[in-house]
Amino acid sequence: MANGVDGDLVGLETELMAAVAAAADLDGLEEARVAALGRKGKLTALMRGLGELGADARKARATALNLLKDRLGAALDAKKETLGAAAIEARLARERIDVTLPVRPESAGRIHPVSHVVDEITAIFADMGFAIAEGPDIEDDFHNFEALNIPAEHPARQMMDTFYLRDDASGGRKVLRTHTSPVQIRHMQAHQPPYRIIAPGRVYRCDSDMTHSPMFHQVEGLAIDRAIHMGHLKGCLFEFARSYFEVDRLRVRFRPSHFPFTEPSAEMDIGCAWKDGELRIGEGDDWLEILGCGMVHPKVLTAAGVDPTQWQGFAFGMGIDRIAMLKYGIPDLRAFFESDLRWLRHYGFSALDQPSLAEGLAL
Ligand code: DAH
Repeated sequence: MANGVDGDLVGLETELMAAVAAAADLDGLEEARVAALGRKGKLTALMRGLGELGADARKARATALNLLKDRLGAALDAKKETLGAAAIEARLARERIDVTLPVRPESAGRIHPVSHVVDEITAIFADMGFAIAEGPDIEDDFHNFEALNIPAEHPARQMMDTFYLRDDASGGRKVLRTHTSPVQIRHMQAHQPPYRIIAPGRVYRCDSDMTHSPMFHQVEGLAIDRAIHMGHLKGCLFEFARSYFEVDRLRVRFRPSHFPFTEPSAEMDIGCAWKDGELRIGEGDDWLEILGCGMVHPKVLTAAGVDPTQWQGFAFGMGIDRIAMLKYGIPDLRAFFESDLRWLRHYGFSALDQPSLAEGLAL
């Protein structure tokens, strides 16, 4: 391009490019763009002047102006990108949240004693290497009864006051699970031993008074390995009871009992005393039953697809609501499920207090 014609453009380009480079933010950049390419911009004015030139000169000048416009556009785009990224950086820095700051104390909202006790139980058993397992509330006959060695005519079926659902299309009758024991079966069917699990959850029986509710909570335990014996069962449940009730010298005893799904079977009691109508756990000569347990029956292992000549272990089942009432002195089970806010404020726990063995369970 002949310098004589476009010499003025060199100075203009330097000036416009300098303005772009100097823009400190997106607003500044927009100003630089308008000063060059806006309606009253310097480059726009030169474009407008093209009409006054002769045909040849106009063509050459137009080419030079368009090239300048392209270079300027590229510079504007590049600068815009840099400034945009810087703007995001600045915003991120400005809006940073310090997650290590202490949480504001939350006065409203309480954790239900059942949830809190499940967290406590979980903390204790997790420390002993147990994982959490789950199963459905609506169960079939096989998992709730049959596989647990409770055949159709067995008296345990009546004792459990089962809620039956309507027969389904295939004639199979579903029930609301009457205990958490079917989770044992489901876990054994789905996994290869060895395993140690607990399964907390809702269970249902057609029963209601001060100490019974048609829906309540149990936690099931299952530990299967090659050589697990009754000594492991006792050690594990001793340890649990002492940690849970937070009484070091808690007296514990095992009484022979009967469950179809365990052999031998036992019930575990903890020592207690009644003083002035108040229950003291860990003192005195009285006993309170807190759970059922035993060595898993070979028939149960077989029904769940586990070879009883290779594997054995123990199981236990415990009422969560009951041990919550015992530990926290809550008198009436029905109140657990009435959703009375005054009750919850009184017996509930702060959402910020997570039970852990290190801090002592009950905060
Ligand atoms: N399923 C029993 C019940 O609901 C509790 C139970 C007892 C569970 C002994 C077990 C066990 O796993 O070994 O009364």
